[in-house]
Amino acid sequence: MSTDSTSQGIESTLHENRVFQPPKAGEVGASRWLVESFAEYKSMYDQSIADPESFWATAAEELHWFKKWDGVLEWNAPDAKWFGGGTTNVCYNCVDRQVESGHGDDVAIIWEGEPVDGSGAPVDVRRITYKELQTEVSKLANVLKSKGIGKGDVVTIYMGMVPELAVAMLACARIGAPHSVIFGGFSAQAITDRVQDASSKMIITCDGSWRRGKVVPLKDNVDEAISIMKDSGNQPVEHVLCYGRCHNDIKWGELDRCWNEEMEKASADCPCEQLDSEDMLFLLYTSGSTGKPKGIVHTNGGYMVYTYLTSKYTFNLIPDEKQVYWCTADCGWITGHSYIVYGILPNRVPTVMYEGGPDYPSGARFWQMVDRHKVTQFYTAPTAIRAFMKWGDEHPASCKLDSLQVLGTVGEPINPEAWMWYRNHIGRGVCPIVDTYWQTETGGHVITPLPGATPTTPGSCTHPAFGIDAAVVNTDGEEQPANTGGLMVIRKPWPGMLRGVHGDRQRFIDTYWSTVKINGQPVYTAGDGARRDEHGNFWIMGRIDDVINVSGHRMGTMEVESALVSHESVVEAAVVGMPHEIKGTGIAAFVTPAPGFEASDELIAALREHVGNEIGAIAKPDMIRFTAALPKTRSGKIMRRLLRSIAAGEHEITQDITTLEDFSVVAKLAEKDES
Ligand code: PRX
Repeated sequence: MSTDSTSQGIESTLHENRVFQPPKAGEVGASRWLVESFAEYKSMYDQSIADPESFWATAAEELHWFKKWDGVLEWNAPDAKWFGGGTTNVCYNCVDRQVESGHGDDVAIIWEGEPVDGSGAPVDVRRITYKELQTEVSKLANVLKSKGIGKGDVVTIYMGMVPELAVAMLACARIGAPHSVIFGGFSAQAITDRVQDASSKMIITCDGSWRRGKVVPLKDNVDEAISIMKDSGNQPVEHVLCYGRCHNDIKWGELDRCWNEEMEKASADCPCEQLDSEDMLFLLYTSGSTGKPKGIVHTNGGYMVYTYLTSKYTFNLIPDEKQVYWCTADCGWITGHSYIVYGILPNRVPTVMYEGGPDYPSGARFWQMVDRHKVTQFYTAPTAIRAFMKWGDEHPASCKLDSLQVLGTVGEPINPEAWMWYRNHIGRGVCPIVDTYWQTETGGHVITPLPGATPTTPGSCTHPAFGIDAAVVNTDGEEQPANTGGLMVIRKPWPGMLRGVHGDRQRFIDTYWSTVKINGQPVYTAGDGARRDEHGNFWIMGRIDDVINVSGHRMGTMEVESALVSHESVVEAAVVGMPHEIKGTGIAAFVTPAPGFEASDELIAALREHVGNEIGAIAKPDMIRFTAALPKTRSGKIMRRLLRSIAAGEHEITQDITTLEDFSVVAKLAEKDES
């Protein structure tokens, strides 16, 4: 990657003006595109907006329902009911439906564990058929039932990327127990907060998980969380089910049950529960503007239909075409929920899961996997692409990559240089790139190109997905003219939309439905700034709240601030985003030390460690600077804009990072600008 910011800037402008027409299907080795031209997309899109009920009914009919819905949509803003009165089961549609239509022996999941042998070949590769998946999921569902878990009981899942993680999610879906998956990189304290908020009766975990040659001690973290919960007098967990993956030493406590033993005893006969379309499918915690993560609620019917359909069209998924789909996300995030498991399995295209680090044992691991499994659709994050660029072109160059048909990105805006590198070095200069914009709350893609239909421009997520009435507006709800920044909103309900914030109705309303009203009706506000260009392409300009996007993961600045001030050495802290070459946005913390504590490198290390323990490694600040006082306006507001520009190196305060800073002079200069 070029480090010359001037030449990068010029290059970036050039790329932003380039338009890449979608290739013919044959040019990338695909048999056909499901949507073949922009005109075809436009006509389907227009129909989905003009008559959403018939559009979504047609989509829902492609899936299995025990009882058909009474009405497609009941909309009483901000509350939507999709396919009301209908009963279905997401697990049935992912697994049983394929078995019953004669595809039980087709491969559902291809999994690679991280460890490799002396020749660099993976030691653990599993290809799991729909029939085998059905057996495993049914057995686990019976294990859950035997522990008293039933409809409505929240099950926490804290596992590495092993197939058993998907089995656990699907087993919960099978019996109507909402799951709450926690990313394996989160700490014991983060587990505690989420388990307590959800009053979760059960945790499913692993002894450990492999990451860059080391074992992540997942079960130890769960043990610590249980002990924190006991001490706090709020310990709702009755059972911890632990899958043995790494054979590391773990302690067995009174709540613990061994997955492997329980599964041996369990029956493989467990019919799917007939669940109401609006019963909760899962909770997924995500960061917001306050210190407390919120549990986003998704329900069965709408989420199932939405992820199924967006998977199909965005990635051009066609069964029986020898396609193999790989999304490199972790199931601990929404991308893994929607585009490894729930959207992909109903499309009957094998989904790849990988356990470990992208550069283990070398930077060629991903590309070797693409060749080994003949991956046709590949979906990753811009932060990963920037890391690949840094590791060197020789890694992809050492592989064929000729199976690839469609490339995708997700999680953050992609810089045009990374987009071009992805296209040229991974996509052989021909594969279309789908830059998918969406959120935990939207359930699935809301703005994205379609690979055979949409002309693309590096850095733009282009056009709305079917049924998404997206717009860029001002706070009065008026659409902004071309190339004018505004708020990203969605004006009509869509099936994959969140149904609430667990246990906090007011936060649901305040966060998403209070900023913009149109004709007196609240509209969904995503929390992102955006603009549309003269061709109608959307460009996401980043978060407008106190959330930063670190390596494509959402992080609330207040969460990190709360973690910092919970350390004895910190009186006050302010956290802002700063540009970071690989992560996109890094975390910068300005900290006022408590009396008796000196700014030092040791203290910086201790604070980073502390934040890691409170939240997880992804929240560790990239930069910590000490200040006698934080710069504030006369009304007491922290001058975040000033801190952002200092963190970005735009202000001339260039002391050694450990010395105390005196913001009084710059703060005076900046006050007018901030208030
Ligand atoms: O700011 C947007 C950014 O990620 C946020 C959503 O984060 P999360 O709920 O964790 O989900 C990430 C995976 C869907 C959005 O509000 N974001 C996501 N995708 C893009 C993006 N920003 C620009 N372009 C994208 N393609």
